[in-house]
Amino acid sequence: MVKKDRKIKIRSTGIYLPEKVLTNADLEKMVETSDEWITTRTGIKERRLASPDQASSDLGVEAAKMALKRAKLTPEDIDLILVATNTPDTIFPSTACWIQKKLGVKEIPAFDLQAGCTGMLYGLIVSEGLIISGSCRRILLIGVDVLSKIINWQDRSTCVLFGDGAGAFILEESNNESGLLSHFWGADGSLGELLILPGGGTLHPTTEQTVKDKLQYLQMKGNDVFKHAVKRMGESAIEALKRAGLDKSQVDYLIPHQANLRIIDATGERLNLPKDKVMANIAKYGNMSVATIPVALHELIEAGKLHPGQIIVLVAFGAGFTWASAVYRW
Ligand code: ACO
Repeated sequence: MVKKDRKIKIRSTGIYLPEKVLTNADLEKMVETSDEWITTRTGIKERRLASPDQASSDLGVEAAKMALKRAKLTPEDIDLILVATNTPDTIFPSTACWIQKKLGVKEIPAFDLQAGCTGMLYGLIVSEGLIISGSCRRILLIGVDVLSKIINWQDRSTCVLFGDGAGAFILEESNNESGLLSHFWGADGSLGELLILPGGGTLHPTTEQTVKDKLQYLQMKGNDVFKHAVKRMGESAIEALKRAGLDKSQVDYLIPHQANLRIIDATGERLNLPKDKVMANIAKYGNMSVATIPVALHELIEAGKLHPGQIIVLVAFGAGFTWASAVYRW
């Protein structure tokens, strides 16, 4: 068990969800699929899509502005912008730098972190180190993905699953009992090819041939990802609880990455939690990758369900493969 004298806390949250809604009925007109298949296999009913002129930084900056407003802070009060994303505006500069420009702040450091759908939790863990070491006082952590722009809209096995969105946390040191109690994180790079965007990097720089071969689109072996996600999410949540010196029975809410309702349910069952303690909003948004956890936490707060002292467990799994869990006392 890790006993912490100093902890970081989430001072505020913010989200941004694009206006355009794509329903399962809309998808039925685009590929050979059905509302019934999508609902029973994934739990998704609709998802949000960014407009053609919206890049990840456009979504991220809106979530950031909401988080700043809710904390009654201005961009000048932040001393690091950290963006977790798999869909940067450009390979470089980083999306964090584009967001810095859009927030109108100068000089403070800004960088991206890429860890598949686990990015927000990796970002939380990295931020804890930076704040507790004294390197940063207050961090703006943003999780954003615009997956609609890296999806092959003719591939029914992937296009029905994803959506676009952004969430943001303002992080700083806690001065009371609330805050991040423990975490557990890991990765297995040997399984990277099971969930991959192969093109556009230095392995397969974009050429006419890579475009013909559709390497610019996300590829996924859904069944394999599913099995690994269920195993790793359950195990890592239990390990993080152990590190916090807590038991499954002490968990008030589980906030799992929203990839598939069956994965969410399986993770909840692994912790013996009734359904009303497991946050699931996948029906409305699909898999927004890095953005699912901050959006789910924000909605739980907005619903007035979180009270001081409650224990929440955040857990994610994604490309890499990567996985992480965090135990937090509200
Ligand atoms: N509509 C209708 N039928 C479909 C569709 C569709 N949209 N997609 C696939 N099918 C068909 C398949 O072709 C297959 O048909 P067949 O039996 O005739 O060959 C059948 O449905 C079953 O396909 P499976 O892939 O076996 O379906 P499964 O129950 O495994 O569900 C799914 C697929 C939803 C993708 C699931 O495997 C899953 O959720 N995997 C995990 C995804 C995930 O967690 N990703 C997380 C990370 S994402 C990130 O990091 C960016």
